[in-house]
Amino acid sequence: MTRQLVAPTSLSPLPYDLNAGVPDDASLPSRELAEAAVRAIEQDPAGALTYGGALGYEPLRTWIAARYSQETGLNVTPAHLTLTSGSAHAIDNIAAAFIAPGDVVITGAPTYPGAIRSFRARGARIVDVPQDEDGIEMVSLASTLEHQRAIGVPAKLIYVIANYDNPSGSTLPVHRREELALLAARYHALVVEDDAYTGIDLEGPPPTSLYQIARGEGILRVGTFSKTIATGLRVGWVLADPAIVRALAYMRFDNGSTPFVQRMVYEYLQTGVYDAHVEQLRAIYKERRDTALAAVLEHCSDYVTCDVPRGGFFLWLTLRAGLDAMRVFETAKTYGVAVTPGHGYYPNGGGENRIRLVFSALPPDELRKAVVLFGKACAEVAAGTLASR
Ligand SMILES: Cc1ncc(COP(=O)(O)O)c(C=O)c1O
Repeated sequence: MTRQLVAPTSLSPLPYDLNAGVPDDASLPSRELAEAAVRAIEQDPAGALTYGGALGYEPLRTWIAARYSQETGLNVTPAHLTLTSGSAHAIDNIAAAFIAPGDVVITGAPTYPGAIRSFRARGARIVDVPQDEDGIEMVSLASTLEHQRAIGVPAKLIYVIANYDNPSGSTLPVHRREELALLAARYHALVVEDDAYTGIDLEGPPPTSLYQIARGEGILRVGTFSKTIATGLRVGWVLADPAIVRALAYMRFDNGSTPFVQRMVYEYLQTGVYDAHVEQLRAIYKERRDTALAAVLEHCSDYVTCDVPRGGFFLWLTLRAGLDAMRVFETAKTYGVAVTPGHGYYPNGGGENRIRLVFSALPPDELRKAVVLFGKACAEVAAGTLASR
């Protein structure tokens, strides 16, 4: 039996790619990473070039643990961390360890398609709850958890992107986080707090994490260096109770992620340039977000509306009544612009009037041109829609 899974998004061959959620090419720290790679191999060739074990390079786990301890005031140790091949693999590892066929996973609608794929691939049934501009709606979450318990299939896991959601850009306010943590504890559901966009704060730091609110109880916090260093590294992690971390390590069969790259990242971090690098990224992405918003307002406001994301890489557009996202997507292609139609972000249908635009990848000038062309595509679809009425 083959399962029906949403196709993954990928880099587009079109001249203007507003589809792939990737960092700015020009700010990839390639020289620093090359130097770090040399040090990683020269200092301990056998360590870098031999299987490294399921949990990953301990000094890197210690570095991440120290950061989380500082951020949360909790005693986070390397035993609370396992390194994965990006956060996509972290989600897959969690699904492998905790999801059996028929288990219920709750997600937002919309949510990250990679998570939908991973959970479905393990046979999960995804029950979605609506999102508003502040993320997952708590009344719906509470009633969904209650309903699942009442019908004898309690939710196993709640998956949430509390900061700068992909695709909606929403950030869950602290009172919703507190409520979510309480609900999860009451209904004995694990929470996967996917923090892939951590650090890409465009309006100051985000609210307290779910992990911190729940003092780590029942929370699996997923992180990555993809958005703040480079997607090609494939270095992510899960922060959770040591017993959960051991269960994750037990359920992976790949001999661990690459020790060489983990050491290279560690060597890079040791130079102390990371925080300044992330600060620079924030300035770059803030300018791009504002450029994209201004261009959407100027050239697309007859056709779309959108909220202002406080961080991350995305504008999440709502199309004017009557405009269909697939038609806008197809027409935008003819203008050389790749965007992402909304339906792939909805586990159980929806999103026909939604489009995701990535503002992180293109420099401001190109971004502006791309949005102008996107506006022309919207106008063409709108004219066709009117004509066919
Ligand atoms: C919400 C979310 N989680 C996880 C990932 C996976 O990122 P990576 O595997 O590169 O860490 C992405 C990538 O776009 C994402 O948007």
